Amino acid sequence: MSEEVIQLLMNGLLITGKAHKSGDFIQCKAVIEKLLTLIMSYDYNQDAFAKKFYRLYTAINALFDKTQAGEVTHEVFYAQIDDALSKFHLNPTKLRIELTRLCNLRCRYCACNSTNPITAQTNKKHMSWDVLRNIAEQAKEIETLNELSVCGYGETFMNKEWFEMICYVLETVPQIKKVLIQTNGMLNTKENIDKVAQLPCERISFEVSIDGISAEETEYWRVGSKFETIKESLNYAISRLDKNKTEIWLFNVSVLPKEFLTGGKTFHDAMAHISKGNEWLRSEFPGVTVHSGYVHNYPGHAVDGTVLWEVANPDASSKISCAYRFVMIAVDPGGDILSCPCDATDVFVLGNVAHDNMLNVWTNNAKLNEIRKMIITETGATPCDQCNANPSAVKRMLIKTT
Ligand SMILES: C[S@@+](CC[C@H](N)C(=O)[O-])C[C@H]1O[C@@H](n2cnc3c(N)ncnc32)[C@H](O)[C@@H]1O
Ligand code: SF4
Ligand code: SF4
Repeated sequence: MSEEVIQLLMNGLLITGKAHKSGDFIQCKAVIEKLLTLIMSYDYNQDAFAKKFYRLYTAINALFDKTQAGEVTHEVFYAQIDDALSKFHLNPTKLRIELTRLCNLRCRYCACNSTNPITAQTNKKHMSWDVLRNIAEQAKEIETLNELSVCGYGETFMNKEWFEMICYVLETVPQIKKVLIQTNGMLNTKENIDKVAQLPCERISFEVSIDGISAEETEYWRVGSKFETIKESLNYAISRLDKNKTEIWLFNVSVLPKEFLTGGKTFHDAMAHISKGNEWLRSEFPGVTVHSGYVHNYPGHAVDGTVLWEVANPDASSKISCAYRFVMIAVDPGGDILSCPCDATDVFVLGNVAHDNMLNVWTNNAKLNEIRKMIITETGATPCDQCNANPSAVKRMLIKTT
């Protein structure tokens, strides 16, 4: 099912929600029946979204009939539609699992190198096979999943069994068609790249982090890294990985230079500086896509030789556009199910895969649903307001002082 059709079906539910409140029962039923016909034009045994919408729409349709026949009161009908509406936003398409929290580098601004709550929780370690088996067994029942990310706070290739572990998840959860790996580039040996090429999935996203605007700068911030080593292995990856199957990305973040201390600088000045990192990497690796951003600090983690700058983003929207809480289930190396994969200001654990069903807690956790509701209705302060992943009005960036 395409994004447009999914959107159309979601809108159909919203229209139904509004229409039933205005009492236009007949119009509601007409909308649902029309959209049900659309869903049935898909092979819903092959398409997880079609199946999900089919179940929901047929249930609502049956409820219409019961209400019209007087078997169910209008109050019950409205309550059930409300329940369906509150859940339909949740489409767990992405599974993020951290195969390790260990790292071979000590990047000065990274959470891995700090005492922030995210990394403190799991006491730096690799994921065990027991945890992985629990995750995979549960994930295979989640039909809408289509993407596996092994990104997190650590270096995936530090876990010597990364390949076997990813293969195991892909075999157990065949609806997953895409894998994302993010690496610091220092362990991109030929052996590891050859294994990336052999991963049994349709699409691979392979991201390498190189920061700042020069080799000296990336080596300064990413302590332990060597630009030449990363460059050599990246060029091997570019030649080795199948272009029809693999997207290679470079991820570049910059600490702002000292001239930003003098004041008078704007958000756009910061963006102009950051784009230099893009230009540098495009000249080093022609044709490779580069994403760039700025460095922020994690709560409770002072980064030596920097100061925090808060700057208004004039292009910001008041709406939180990060979809993680609606689409991603994130599990850390100890099996803890996280409320959000990457916000250190809001670390609460929903449960653990050893004794909880991750879909169940992710769907029903009251506190998480409260945050989701605030995001959808744009009411109340959510932890996302403080998070740099959200395009909110104020951005936090580090400036170099030394
Ligand atoms: C935490 S790392 C984990 C994956 C892998 N070890 C790597 O370095 O790519 C993921 C990304 O977060 C970025 N990062 C780390 N600390 C950051 C910070 N304080 N602000 C912005 N990005 C940060 C890193 O540069 C990297 O691109
Ligand atoms: S390599 Fe990645 S995980 Fe390791 S310290 Fe650097 S940014 Fe953090
Ligand atoms: S904006 Fe930040 S806190 Fe909110 S869901 Fe996205 S990553 Fe998590």
